[in-house]
This record gives sequence, C-alpha cells and structure tokens, in this order.
Amino acid sequence: MPLVPMRQVLDAAAAGSYGVGAFNVNNMEQIQAIMMAAKETQSPVIVQASRGARSYSDDSYLRHLMLAAVELNPDIPIVMHLDHGNSVDTCRSAIEQGFTSVMMDGSLMSDGKTVADFDYNVAVTSEVAKMAHDKGVSVEGELGCLGGIEDGHGANVDARAHLTDPDQAVEFVARTGVDALAVAIGTSHGAYKFTRKPDSDVLAMAIIEAIYKRLPNCHLVMHGSSSVPQELVEIINRYGGAMKPSFGVPVEEIQRGIAHGVRKINVDTDNRLAITGAIRKVFVEEPAEFDLRKYLTPARAAMAEVVKARMTAFGQAGHAGDIKPRTLEEQAALYR
Ligand code: G3H
Ligand code: 13P
Ligand code: ZN
Repeated sequence: MPLVPMRQVLDAAAAGSYGVGAFNVNNMEQIQAIMMAAKETQSPVIVQASRGARSYSDDSYLRHLMLAAVELNPDIPIVMHLDHGNSVDTCRSAIEQGFTSVMMDGSLMSDGKTVADFDYNVAVTSEVAKMAHDKGVSVEGELGCLGGIEDGHGANVDARAHLTDPDQAVEFVARTGVDALAVAIGTSHGAYKFTRKPDSDVLAMAIIEAIYKRLPNCHLVMHGSSSVPQELVEIINRYGGAMKPSFGVPVEEIQRGIAHGVRKINVDTDNRLAITGAIRKVFVEEPAEFDLRKYLTPARAAMAEVVKARMTAFGQAGHAGDIKPRTLEEQAALYR
C-alpha cells in the first residue's frame, strides 16, 4: 500500500479507541527499527521527521528510505509526518517531498522559540490546512506551548505557564480545520521533563479530559511523551554516560489520555536513550571493535524493543488491517 494520510489512521484509531505512536527518525536504522516493531505487532504506524532530521538526512534520502519501508511492508499502513513545522514554507516543502501529513506548529513563531499569539497561530495553521487538504495531506496544529528548550525546539517557558485553554481549543479547531490538535499539558521534549514522578500538579491530564468533552471528534496529540525508563538511563550511565536523574510521562498516564481522545503520541527521547545505551555498551565491552554493524545492530534492536512496547501499550498492535488505504487524491476529494 502507498504511504497513507494520517487522517485515515487517526480516524481508525478513534473508531477502535486506541492510540498510535509517532516515532521520530533521522536515519535508516531508526526507520528499520520502527518497521521491525510494526511488522511484529501488526501495527499501523506514524513515522515523523523534524526539521533537524530533514536537514541531517536530506529529504531525498528520507523519502527513499520511507518508500523502501513501504515496499518491504506492504500490509502495514505507514504515515510520513512532518514534526513541528515552523512555517508555511516548511510545510509546503514537506508536502512536495511526499510527506502525507504535516504539523504546523504555530504556537511558536518561525524561530521555533518565541511564543506566538492566538491570531498568528490561527492564520498560519489555517493557511497550511487549506494548502495541505487540497492535496489530501493531513494537518496537525498546536495550541499552548510545551516547556523546556532542550532539543532546540520549544519556548524556554515553565511548562505550566502556557497550558492549552479548552475553550480556545474549540475556537482553534473550528477556525483552522486541523485534523489533529497537539495540546500542552505540562510536558516538554527531551529527557528532563519532571524532577519527580509527575502528579496532577505538573502533568495536567484534566485538560485533555476537558478538551475531549468539548471536542469529542477531534484527534488529540500528546507531545513530549517519552517515559524516560530508568533502566535505559542506567545502561547509559553504567557504560560511561552522565545522565541526571529525571522522570518522564508514565505509560499509564498516556493510556488515560487515550481513553479521553488522544490518538497520536509522540516519542523520540526513549528511542534515543535505547540506541545510546546499546552503542555505549559495545564501546565499553569491546573497545577494539570498529565495525559499525557491531554496534548499530544492537542499537536498532534496542529501539525496536521500545517501539514494540509502546505499540502494545497504546493499543495499536493488531490494528494494521483496520485500514484500507486511501490515496491522497481520494482523501483530497473527501475534504472537498
Ligand atoms: O521535536 C522534538 C523531537 O524530539 C525532534 O527533535 O528537533 O532534535 O530532531 P529534533
Ligand atoms: P519526547 O522528547 O518526550 O520523546 O517527545 C518527542 C516529541 O514530542 C516530538 O515532537
Ligand atoms: Zn513535539
């Protein structure tokens, strides 16, 4: 099947009351790890690339690697999604490069750091929605800002300062026509989200419940959803790493979100941790080794294990067959 529109995958997830992990990629091994996990669990999957990933790997390599994933996995619905597009132009170029879904993150200005106002966000997001829907491409918007700036994308704000306002979310979705809405509930990107196991003081799951009540047909997205498993941090530190103690988003909180309309869950950091730990282990245990396959093979396997666990926990496992793929042209006709 061809790369599919994200809208179709999220509609199926809503009908089946499950969530779908969206995993970031930068290279071939990460795409292979996701596809190994998707094949084993028979999951539909969202593969996403940030602006940084696009410039690291180059759109042409990315596109052809994704087409290889499609060719080798004809039974798995695969979405190719732009993560945190910062401008209309970035989204346009992703669509031209074959992405079947784009995020226009108008919660921040195009520098990816300065908090934007509501009118700016509505204007850029609706412009992208018109342009993308015309081609059958799905659109994710974001309202409210994540905390932290660890990965270079995000306002350097206290995560509690820019949580999503549920009433504003209703207006935002109506005015922009987005297919999916990313909400700010106190998470941030990266490994250092919380200094203790998060409770409702720092992780505002109630906001998701309030938005779901008002927008039961909108697909909600949780960013910054890595769980930062302690065992992965320990492996890194055991083999010479220097990661500080911290807490991520517990999987059971994500499952609570899925019960209240969360359909897309963004995970990058957990996979980075798995890969880094596996590579460090080989470097320490076999210091004479210099065949890259000797450390990239366990790294890829370690990431596949994380992705498999998330696919199972989010409920997408076993649902690859839910989708009879739509072409972008068919999806465009539906928007019209
Ligand atoms: O936006 C968050 C993702 O973890 C991507 O990070 O911008 O470093 O590729 P990145
Ligand atoms: P993590 O850093 O928690 O994995 O979040 C990734 C993300 O939200 C990508 O958009
Ligand atoms: Zn994000």
